[in-house]
Amino acid sequence: MLIVDSVDAGYGHVGVLEAVSLCVQPGSIVALVGRNGAGKSTLLRVISGLIAPTKGGIRFEGLDIAGKRPHTIVNCGLLHVAEGRRIFRNQTVADNLELGLYGLTISREEYRRRLEPVYSMFPILRERRDQLAGALSGGQQQMLAIAQAVIRGPKLLMLDEPSLGLAPILVDQVFDAIVSLRRSGVAILLVEQMVERALEISDYCYVLQSGRMTADGAARDMARSDALRTAYMGDHDSGSN
Ligand SMILES: Nc1ncnc2c1ncn2[C@@H]1O[C@H](COP(=O)(O)OP(=O)(O)OP(=O)(O)O)[C@@H](O)[C@H]1O
Ligand SMILES: [Mg+2]
Repeated sequence: MLIVDSVDAGYGHVGVLEAVSLCVQPGSIVALVGRNGAGKSTLLRVISGLIAPTKGGIRFEGLDIAGKRPHTIVNCGLLHVAEGRRIFRNQTVADNLELGLYGLTISREEYRRRLEPVYSMFPILRERRDQLAGALSGGQQQMLAIAQAVIRGPKLLMLDEPSLGLAPILVDQVFDAIVSLRRSGVAILLVEQMVERALEISDYCYVLQSGRMTADGAARDMARSDALRTAYMGDHDSGSN
């Protein structure tokens, strides 16, 4: 579904990613792990068109998307929920969800039909739908950011550290939501510092180290692999590992 082939990318003259390759199969969850600064967010930014690769190719459902504009890539069904919470704080929760549909022509009926599974996924958003998004807690804002992408009906959803700063009970809700998205046919590319939790729900895993892919394999094998331990050695900021 998604094929990243030998991509180089960085910021200005600073190279970050070097010959990075990765695949996501339809309907699968792929974990992308590695210590702080490894280049995980940079890779997601390249895939979603926020940074153009300087080398290599990116294909999504057979389409060449390398260097395409972000909105073109979004319209292909490839969505990116970035680090931090990109929501409209001065709009209500419901308005934020509607803004997730920006640029699509959708009837009121279809809007309500799409809203239902999103509210079941994150019941707190239903309760708070008429409140300003800025009045939500950090964790609730994170859920809103995910919900905003989900309502658009992505084929592939890239999540950058969705559990960051969340209380354990909200972390559970986010992981449950990811699993239920896969059940409904959405593929997920998941960047997560809670590596063990991520591997539990993932099918496949890639390890990024200093801008290079150093290991990949079935998630259940990866959980026990030395490659993963090596990648995190000496890193005290990597959550569960
Ligand atoms: N906007 C930017 N301009 C210049 N350099 C950047 C920028 N964003 C990130 N970098 C650099 O690129 C490298 C990779 O950063 P990136 O954010 O992709 O890592 P990451 O794996 O997502 O880390 P973390 O786990 O801390 O989120 C780092 O050395 C970082 O300093
Ligand atoms: Mg990051």
